[in-house]
Order: sequence, then structure tokens, then C-alpha cells
Amino acid sequence: MKITIIGTGYVGLVSGTCFAELGFDVTCVDKDENKIQKLKKSTLPFFEPNLSELLDKNVREGRLHFTSLLKNTAETSKIIIIAVGTPCDFETGRTSLKDIYSVLDSLAPYLRNNKLLVLKSTVPIGTLKKIEQYIYMLNKQAKFELASNPEFLREGNAIQDFMKLDRIVVGTESLKAKSLLRILYHNFLLEGIPYIETTPETAELIKYASNAFLGLKVSYINQMADLCEKSNGNIRELAQALGLDHRIGRGFLDPGPGFGGSCLPKDLLELSIYAKEVEKPLTLIDEVLKFNNLRPQKMLKIIQTAFEGNLKGKTIAILGLTFKANTDDLRDSPSLNIINKLYNLGATLQVYDPKGMESAQKILPGLYFAKNPYEAMKNADGLVILTEWEEFKDLDLERVKQFLKTPLVIDLRNIFSLDQMKSKEFTYYSLGHRPLNEKTKPKRQAAA
Ligand code: UDX
Repeated sequence: MKITIIGTGYVGLVSGTCFAELGFDVTCVDKDENKIQKLKKSTLPFFEPNLSELLDKNVREGRLHFTSLLKNTAETSKIIIIAVGTPCDFETGRTSLKDIYSVLDSLAPYLRNNKLLVLKSTVPIGTLKKIEQYIYMLNKQAKFELASNPEFLREGNAIQDFMKLDRIVVGTESLKAKSLLRILYHNFLLEGIPYIETTPETAELIKYASNAFLGLKVSYINQMADLCEKSNGNIRELAQALGLDHRIGRGFLDPGPGFGGSCLPKDLLELSIYAKEVEKPLTLIDEVLKFNNLRPQKMLKIIQTAFEGNLKGKTIAILGLTFKANTDDLRDSPSLNIINKLYNLGATLQVYDPKGMESAQKILPGLYFAKNPYEAMKNADGLVILTEWEEFKDLDLERVKQFLKTPLVIDLRNIFSLDQMKSKEFTYYSLGHRPLNEKTKPKRQAAA
């Protein structure tokens, strides 16, 4: 069966590649000709583990194609999936549907012969119904089926998430749409993956409710971490014990500088505004948003305390720019917020990230971009960890000590164990635990 996927961002490219891997004949469409030319040469627009190899394989085997011309592929495909971005409109806080409507403007003439149009982009509740009306307004003869099919992929884990789905959600009132989607997800149905067929509005709500719950869970553990710091508690042991309760689960219980990225902050905000609009405010989610917005400021306070209140003239090594590990995405990254605050307070910053450097250099002037983590630490008065990359977890702590002027580590992702840091005699600030060895005198000589 032929499938067209419109939009070659995370969702479009990962879904397209994975559907091709499952045996479908997939064409990915993007209006950006430059992006398409690069994709034809196997150059990806972003970093995602294992995507490049899988994409190459499916292109080689003839199941995955790229084009900027919608017409041919839309006319010959049975299923057309929209996976364009729906970013936040910063003026209103709402989710922008500009790109979706622009796709529909081009697509409407080809919606004939009961083709199935699937919406994978995250869209506000009620959008599917509005889209239907919009298409009929553009093309009175249109004959198509329509379904919502939200995705739950995480950046950095997207291939794994697609191939090992927790559940599939399909929102439609059309029987034909239901049966076509059952063909599309045939393999997963055979594997017994939970398959939820529901109304379009419920499908749209499921996506928002899932992301809101994840944001809530992260904020909850962050608040617990704050409480541990005041109560001589240990958040690592607390999270482990909480996670062992199968009703709670261990996922999303790692404290950090707050949730970021292109989805959670935007989706929680959309849900909160929508709920107020329909006069059912989600006060819990409103609190989560408030708390998460203040999180970078709280992180700054920890750093200031570690530097005894004075950041002016201090040289600080920063490890981690992206909003989490295994991505090159800087969108809504708490790291950038914290870095800007430190910079404005007069600190000299030496930064390193395994994948985020190129984009960061364009938006963060005045920083030193190091070639590796150790170079970032050279002669620094302290080290701040902002993202939980494996590369940072594997650092040789003896070398860290040699490179830093002062053995001060502020770990805002809790990547090191307390025992490790204690035995190496670092002054160690982490989340949800009292600092170790709080006062450290500067060494006389810095490493060469
Ligand atoms: C999210 C959803 O997980 C995914 O289902 C949806 O399709 C898109 O949005 P993503 O934005 O890739 O995925 O990131 P995710 O892994 O969910 O992390 C979100 C944020 O929460 C990150 O900033 C991350 O660092 C933070 N986080 C996550 C924590 O601080 N602690 C945790 O334990 C987990």
C-alpha cells in the first residue's frame, strides 16, 4: 500500500522510515526543496539515534522516497498522513495550525476516492472536525475519510518508541478509516499492542493528557527533590522506592532543571488555555506550568550558593545544552535559560555538548565552545552539568579534578553517585540531597 507523509520533522521522518521498514511504500513530502535534496543524499535535518541507518536501508531497498511535489504522490496514495509542526504562537500561547492549513490548501484537490487523511501532528481539541469543514469548503466534491492518530515518540528514542509502541490511538467516526488504519497497524495488532479506537476529540485529548501527565510527574519529582534538600532526604532512594510501586512506575522520576523541548511546554500551555476557554480550568496543570517556569531560576540559586553568592568573574564549565540527552534539539531547553542567566551575572562560560554545539553557536554569542568536556573544564572555578548525556556519566573524575581549578561540581541531572563524589572529595551539589563537602579551598595550581 502506498502512503504519503507530509512533513519531514521528527514525527514525519521517523514515522515514514518506520512504516517503510514495515513494508509500506512511503513517500515523504516537504515543501522545503533544500531539505528534500539533502534527504535524497541521506543527510538528515536533525540528529536521532539509528534513524540514519534505517532511512538509508529503506531508501536502498526502494520503499522510501522523498519529494517536494505533493501532487503525484497524493494522487496515487491510499493513505495521506499529515505530520507537520504545530509550534507555539508566542503572542497567544496557542498552538499554531498555520502549516496544517497551508498543507490542506494544496492537498484538498486530491482528496478523492475515499482516500484516508490521517492527522499525526499534535493539534488542539476539536481540530479534526474543523479540518473536515475546511476541506469541504475548498473542494465541494472531496471524498475522503479522516482520522486522528496521535504519536507518542520521544526525541532521542523515536525509532524504539515507534517499533515498540505502548499503545496505538485512533480517533475517527468512519468505519472505512478504521479498517484502513487496522491495515496500516496490522503488525502491531498481531503483536497484541493495545489498540484504542475512539472519537476524534478523545484521541486529541489523549495526546494532551499524556504530555500533561508527564509534565506533572517531572514537576512532582522536582518538588520532592526540593523537599529532600530541606529534610536531609535522598531523592535517588526516594525515586527508586516510588518507582517500585507498579501503580506509579519509575519513568519520569528523575529530577532536573525542568521539562523542556518542543512538545511538553507547548502542549501543557495549549491544554491549560483550552480548559479555561471551556470553563473547566486545569488548576493542577496551571501550577505545573508555573513551577516549571520558575525551575531555571531555582537552578541558578543552587549555582549561586555553590559559588558563595558571587558569579562575577567566575569561569564556569557547562556540560549540556540540549533539552535532554540524545538529541541536538535546543528548543525550550532549560540549559539555555540558565546559561543566559549566568552570563548576565558576569560569569565566563566554557560550554560543551555532544550534539548541540552547532545550533548553539548561532544563538549564544560570548561563550567559549570547547572541543570536548575536559577542555570546557580547563581552569574553570567549577563545573555545572545540565544534560544527562552518557558521555558525561563516563567522565574520568580524576581528570575532571585535574582540569578544574576548584573541585566543585554542580550536577543538575544527578548523573553522578553520591559515593563516587564523596570518595573523590569533590564539593558536590546535586538535586534532592544536601551538598557534599560544602567548603572547598581553591587549589594552588591549575592543570596545564
Ligand atoms: C515528549 C513525550 O514524551 C512524547 O510522548 C511526545 O510525543 C513528545 O513529547 P520529548 O519532548 O522528546 O517527548 O521528551 P521527553 O523524553 O518526554 O522529556 C521531556 C522533558 O522532561 C525533557 O526536558 C526531559 O529532560 C524532562 N525529564 C524527563 C525530566 O526532567 N525527568 C525525567 O525523569 C524525564
